[in-house]
Amino acid sequence: MTTAARTQPTTEDASAPWWRQAVVYQIYPRSFADADGDGLGDLRGILSRVDYLAALGIDAVWLSPFYPSKLADGGYDVSDYRDVDPRLGTLTDFDALVDRLHTNGIRVVVDIVPNHTSDDHAWFQQALTAGRGSSARERYVFREGTGPDGEQPPTDWVSMFGGPAWERVADGQWYLHHFAVEQPDLNWAHPDVRADFVRTLRFWADRGVDGFRVDVAHMLTKDLSEPLPSKAALDALPIDGTHPVLDRDDVHDVYAEWRAVLNEYDPPRTAVAEAWVAPSRVPLYASATSLGQAFNFDLLEADFDAGQFRTVVENNLALSARSGSSSTWVLSNHDVVRHATRYGLPAPGRTPDGRPANRHGREWLLGGGVGDLDVAGGLRRARAATLFLLGLPGSAYLYQGEELGLHEVADIPDELRQDPTHTRSGGFDVGRDGCRVPLPWASAGPSFGFGPGPAHLPQPGWMASYAVAEQEDDPASSLNLYRRALQLRRELLAGEDLEWRDTGRPDVLRFARHGRWEVVTNFGTADVPLDGGEVLLSSGAMRRDVVPAETTFWLAPRLSARTPQRDPEVRT
Ligand code: NOJ
Repeated sequence: MTTAARTQPTTEDASAPWWRQAVVYQIYPRSFADADGDGLGDLRGILSRVDYLAALGIDAVWLSPFYPSKLADGGYDVSDYRDVDPRLGTLTDFDALVDRLHTNGIRVVVDIVPNHTSDDHAWFQQALTAGRGSSARERYVFREGTGPDGEQPPTDWVSMFGGPAWERVADGQWYLHHFAVEQPDLNWAHPDVRADFVRTLRFWADRGVDGFRVDVAHMLTKDLSEPLPSKAALDALPIDGTHPVLDRDDVHDVYAEWRAVLNEYDPPRTAVAEAWVAPSRVPLYASATSLGQAFNFDLLEADFDAGQFRTVVENNLALSARSGSSSTWVLSNHDVVRHATRYGLPAPGRTPDGRPANRHGREWLLGGGVGDLDVAGGLRRARAATLFLLGLPGSAYLYQGEELGLHEVADIPDELRQDPTHTRSGGFDVGRDGCRVPLPWASAGPSFGFGPGPAHLPQPGWMASYAVAEQEDDPASSLNLYRRALQLRRELLAGEDLEWRDTGRPDVLRFARHGRWEVVTNFGTADVPLDGGEVLLSSGAMRRDVVPAETTFWLAPRLSARTPQRDPEVRT
């Protein structure tokens, strides 16, 4: 028995926009490669590794913020949206990088951070000096405090990073910051704010950037009419498009304007929303009149479990069908514990609505990474999950270092941690530095080949054996698995359809892609018989008749498959 799920376009379509099934590789610039030896990765470091990116076989890179920033939140506190942080390079370096990537057939997506600026941004500095009642303050959210002398914040709202969401300035007013104190929220009702971001989009699009990743896309617009609700009242409100601060319908007025601008380019520039919203609301962001694509973080929150994975795939393909966009699949990024580590730790349990009860890996991280972690098992499951993901219709977002099978770094001394979630939570949350530790390129050297100097976050000794140089010539390495998978994917990819095959087992999933290839994942802990098919690629051991435990195979289609086999065509 088979069940088919179809998104759009349903047939092979050579004219389908490039992004619909692109493999996008996220670079966290400060931790990728350091050319000048100051310990911080830079644009010339990335430039020096373009051959590596080309050999990996990706379609695009997404650059996390490289803009001037004092790094209060790893660069998501931007002090100038139209420049490069001098520690990371110059606009000339940026142009050279884009040029080199394009020459290698790799497109470029940059991060845009519109909910908040840095408190170092010229606008915020003007707002501070111009004082209460000034037009400069209107670009942000300033309010008087409560209590006899206004010494209490306007509300008891809590920032996403812990602690109060309001900060008092010297003249006694308070400003709103949904993230760190150094990240004041912008007022998206202000025409200057709207106009300036359009200018920023054009600035980068004119420099050849192919797309944008939009940070906290669901939080820009706000209804802050007085009286402001208490936290309890705010939390009780439905998030249905009318909530005062989250996922408001009117945010799509902003994106409709952006979409019109992005569509002026040829080809139209892409945009993908980082929007943590209810599934039913994702299509609003992914629609062709809004940003055009939205992240789906459901796999990233799922346990390594066949039932959960199938539900996630079915739900998200149905959402893509609604929006007309392609789905996006993510297992790791710069905000979460690396998936090799998540799958090597006990699952965090589930809330009644099916969400993880806790941030996966949190307890282990708080304990300094001692005990519990099944290093080899975590990586085995991670490779199986990755090969499953790369078989799905839609675009795949990979995070730097996952192709090396890297684990999370747990043992970072408190005084060296950089993530504001660590300090703002009083150490209650250990933060996200463990997935941002600079990449190991070589097994020796002051920073394992990251640069000629030290690394800005400490690299543990075990990273040496995960180094690129160690993996290059090892056919069984994670790096070579990713390379082969991406090359094969290019050859096999066609339309965005997926057809489930019945496996008769709750722990095994199998699906076919447009009669060209099949993907079978054994999520169980025992080997299972392989029911036909020639193995093209395995995430682990290569066996002819059985799918080993916790392993994914890519298979050539069986002759009995319903859809006729077509000749593979190489996409360029
Ligand atoms: C989401 C980004 O992914 C994260 O790293 C950042 O801290 C917040 N947005 C705030 O900009």
